[in-house]
Parts: sequence; C-alpha cells; structure tokens
Amino acid sequence: MKDHGLTMDEWDEVNSPRPDISDFDLVVEEAISRRGFLGGVLAFGSGAAVMGTGALFSSTSARAQAASRFAFKPIPIATDSTVHVPEGYSWSVVTRWGDPLHSGAAAFDPANGHDAATAEHVFGENTDGMWLYSIDGREVIAVNSEYANLKTNLPNSDGVPQSADDVLMLQRIQGVTIMEVAPKDGGGYEVVVDSPFNRRIDHNTPMKFSGPAAGSDLLKTEADPEGMNPLGTMNNCGSGPTPWGTYLTCEENFNGYFGSTDADFELPEDYSRYGIGHDGWGYDYHKFDPRFDVSKNPAEPRRQGWVTEIDPSDPTSTPIKRTALGRIKHENAACTLAPDGRVVVYMGDDERGEYLYKFVSNGVYAPGTDGGALLDDGALFVAKFNWDGTGEWLPLTPETTGMDAVEILVYTRMAASAAGGTTMDRPEWVQVNPVAAEGYASLTNNKNRGVKPNAGGDDTSVNGPNPREVNNYGQIVRWYPANDDHGTSSFRWDLFVMAGNPVVGDGAYKGSSNVNEGNMFNSPDGMMFDSTGIVWIQTDGDDSNEGEFEGQGNNQMLAGDPATGEIHRFLTGPNGCEVTGLCWSTDRKTMFVGIQHPGGSFPDGEGLPRSSIVAVWRDDGALVG
Ligand code: FEO
Ligand code: CA
Ligand code: CA
Repeated sequence: MKDHGLTMDEWDEVNSPRPDISDFDLVVEEAISRRGFLGGVLAFGSGAAVMGTGALFSSTSARAQAASRFAFKPIPIATDSTVHVPEGYSWSVVTRWGDPLHSGAAAFDPANGHDAATAEHVFGENTDGMWLYSIDGREVIAVNSEYANLKTNLPNSDGVPQSADDVLMLQRIQGVTIMEVAPKDGGGYEVVVDSPFNRRIDHNTPMKFSGPAAGSDLLKTEADPEGMNPLGTMNNCGSGPTPWGTYLTCEENFNGYFGSTDADFELPEDYSRYGIGHDGWGYDYHKFDPRFDVSKNPAEPRRQGWVTEIDPSDPTSTPIKRTALGRIKHENAACTLAPDGRVVVYMGDDERGEYLYKFVSNGVYAPGTDGGALLDDGALFVAKFNWDGTGEWLPLTPETTGMDAVEILVYTRMAASAAGGTTMDRPEWVQVNPVAAEGYASLTNNKNRGVKPNAGGDDTSVNGPNPREVNNYGQIVRWYPANDDHGTSSFRWDLFVMAGNPVVGDGAYKGSSNVNEGNMFNSPDGMMFDSTGIVWIQTDGDDSNEGEFEGQGNNQMLAGDPATGEIHRFLTGPNGCEVTGLCWSTDRKTMFVGIQHPGGSFPDGEGLPRSSIVAVWRDDGALVG
C-alpha cells in the first residue's frame, strides 16, 4: 500500500462509512495503487483481468520494459484562450457555430449571431459527440450540438427568449449536424458547403419510435395519438457509431426544455426523478411553443431521453428513437458485438448517483446488413459493482422491478433503483477497448457522494468504484466481462485512473499513482479509443486553476495506455471550454476534436465565442490514431 502514500487509517477516514469486510482494502490496493500494472504485484482482481483479456503484455517484466506507446511529448497545462498541441503537431478550425452548411446562409454576425431562418443552414452550437463515416469515398461527420448558451445566442436580451422566433432559432441551432468534410490546402479540413449529405436535425425534425414502448399510451399526445411520431431530438450529448454505419445520438438533459404556463399544474409523478418542473432551465420554449408546455402536453417530455439512430448516408432518412435502450439522461452509447454476434450497447446516465446500463440484443448481427432492428428487441441491464472487485449486470424485468415492460423503458431510472444497481458518480462517456475485452466509463465527479441520496432517494454512500465522498475530481472505472464476452452478466472491475491533485490534495484526493504533477486533470468526461487501443480522455471540469484545482489549467485531452496506466496530456483547450467529441479521418492522419462553450472570443479573437471543431494532425503526416 505504499504507492499511494496512504495508511489504512487514512483510508478509513476518507471512506467512512464503509463495510467492515477487508475486501475493501484489496479494492483500494487495486483501484488506487495500480500496482497490478505498474509494480509487479498482481493484487486482487488484476491477475484475472490482465491475463484473461488478451492484454497487450503477458508478464510483468514485459510490461515494465515496454516503451511508451505515445507518439508525442506531453504538453504543460494552459490557462490562455487558444488550443495547444504537442511539438510536431498542428491544428486548425474545421467549422464554428454559425458557419454555413449551405451557400444561401447569411454570414455570421460576430456581435449578434444569426436569426432563425439562418439557423437551419449553419453548423449548430456547442459541439459534442461525433463520428466520421466514409461513404462512397467521401467523408461525412455526424456531430451533436448539445445545448444553447442563452446569453451568447440572445446577446440583446440577456439570454431571455422574447418571441416564438427566438425559440425557433434556439431549437434550430441544437440537435445534430450531418456534414461532408474534405482536406484543405495547407493542412486540416473544411466543410464541403452544399454537399448533398449536409443536413440539420433539430428539436422539430420528424422522427419515429420503434421498440417495445413505441405506440404505448405513455407516449401518446394530442398531436400524435398513435404515440409513434415524435418530433425532435434534444440535448444531444455523446454518441456512438454502430457496426452497420449509423449514428446513435443520445438525449441527455432534455428536462430543461419543458415547463408549464400554469403554475398550479400538478406535475405527473414520474417527472421528479427526471427533473421536469414548472420552469425549465431558461429556454422558455413552453411560453412560445405549446408542445413544450407540460400543462397542455404532459406526455411530451416522455418522448425525449432516448437513444436516436440516424443514417448519415441518407439525407432523407427519418431518425428512429430506439425505445428498447431505455429512457434516462443518456450520455453516449458504446456499441459492440458479443462473440456470438449479439449487439451490446453500454450507456451511462449522467446525473449524480444515477446508473450505468447495458443493452444486449436477442438477435445476432450479420456483417454487411442493417442491424437497426436488433436494437428493438433485447434485454436491458443495470450495473452492480461489489466491493470485492466483482460485478454483475442485473436484468431490468417485471420480476426484478415490479414494473411492466413498457414502464421499465419509459421510467428506466425507477427500474434501476428497484433492481438494486450501484449508484455512480455521474456516468459520462462509456467506451469499449477495441483490442481487449474491456469496458470503460468516465465517472466525472459527484459532490453529493456520501452527502445526500440521488433524485430517487437511493443511498449514495461510498461504494467500490465510487470510493470518495464529495468527489470533485472523478475517476474512470473499467470492467472485464467474464469470458471476454460483453454479452455475459458477470465481470470483474478496477479503476483505470482516479483523478486528483497530488500537489494540494489530501489522501485519496491526490489521485491514483498514475496521476502526477505533470498530467493531472479533473472531471473526465468525453472518452474514445483509437484503433491502436489508446484511450483518449477529454475533460469538462473546473478550469479555475485555483484551490483544489491548482495546477490543472484549462480543460484538456489526454491519452491513456490501458496496459500500463500511463497518461500523457496531448491537447489543452481555451479557457472556459469543455473538450468533447473525437473522431478520425478515414486515413487516420487527422483527428477531429470538439471545443464546446469556449470563453473569450475563441476562435476568432473578437466577437462572440464560437464552439468549434478543430482538426489536429502530425506535421510529418504520420497516423494519429
Ligand atoms: Fe452532456 Fe453529461 O455531458
Ligand atoms: Ca459530457
Ligand atoms: Ca460533463
């Protein structure tokens, strides 16, 4: 227990209350010290984990001798208002909020943004999850625009919508953008304006429901008495590609768009767990668009909070909300295949003390076919992590939840609580290692851990993968499915990294031993594996560079080696931003990185700040992932 510098007494103080069983000590050793990877002691859990997953190094000595797999020199923190990448790399802007997708779009006004008519034809605001598709030799990016910065979008009314037109503009600059990109002279990429692939999918786009909850009474509205034809996808946060070439966009904080014009309207019972209230978060849609007024359309919020599938290759396709994947505040969707061909989708619900989920299809995927229908028929599970380093996926069924099959999908949070899942520190992105049978989830932070229960009243005392009270730094949990099969129900787990501050933090708040003064960060959020099995970690944390965050600088992107635990900082974003969203060009010589809600006047140097996608490449033209 030397590596982390803690005695067990110190751990007791940090993690009280906790079970009496000494398994906890072993969990801490595995979770914090990383000695299973770094020091030659295969502590509890890691032996099976390292050796059972076809890991890259088969013995301790081989691991110790392995050279760093990173092809860059790590960079220091930054506190300025631009992007930094390592020596030998370059970056440039691909597109900014308000840049045209179609040549008819009015030019962006640096002081005022754009109006509703223009919003349909430009790149949306607050870029988030994305993926690049190779379609008939062309490169097409599908990318989320998560939310609207109201004060930035409505600078003349202090961010308060004044009219139906203001609301329509906001509805149109969020959602999803499909756009063709192409290499640009001198390096980097640009949008192919007027490409037939270019498309905006927003808060009003016609969609379909599919899966077991489609057509249920819970989803019917006056405008859609069949409960089959919802409008819009919203608060599109993370995303994930499918093996059949479609894009899964994930609806996260949808609750904020709804409100009631009748202050006395009695909110349906299911609203509180999802945070749906009378006022919303300031978008004020309900004041100008009756669809969002829950006193008139109480079922409308249940038509959001889903995983929506989009075919980027067909600009005329109708997006499909796949109800079998459940309704939560979906962060992203990590789609993989079990060895027998069943489709497995891992999903996180980003709120303090909510859960981690998995969907497993009943049918098997046949390569080369459209697998979309597989997402309509399968089983949904919630993760349960045990102190002893084991875990299981608990099925959400009428027997385990006391709810019927449709209720489980519409009120998935309540189903997870009933089944007894493990409350997590805000699950953000989930990913699957392409070269080893491992799943990863960013648990970004949770100031309420050990302080108060989640929105459903579930206990949030410290537990195995969430071992710190008042967790302001976050961690990444990793699991190893039994038999290297993502379709199975049991797993072993450890922590890939526990973020912290080794300089000013105390005890466990120093972070795990693969965190040091040179690479520290807080609040891991976006996460993506490249084709070589390097995990890229993006942060959305406190960038004050003060107090407990001193020395951590602006939000950033780091690269982690799953085999050694080594983590190096690769990119820093402008002050105020979150770095989120990552994908690669077809030739893997360019990476695309999202810069969301930058501060200052990024990237233009004057006028409104504009969230942007930047391209990053090596000056020598070598691969970057
Ligand atoms: Fe949209 Fe949980 O980040
Ligand atoms: Ca996020
Ligand atoms: Ca976040």
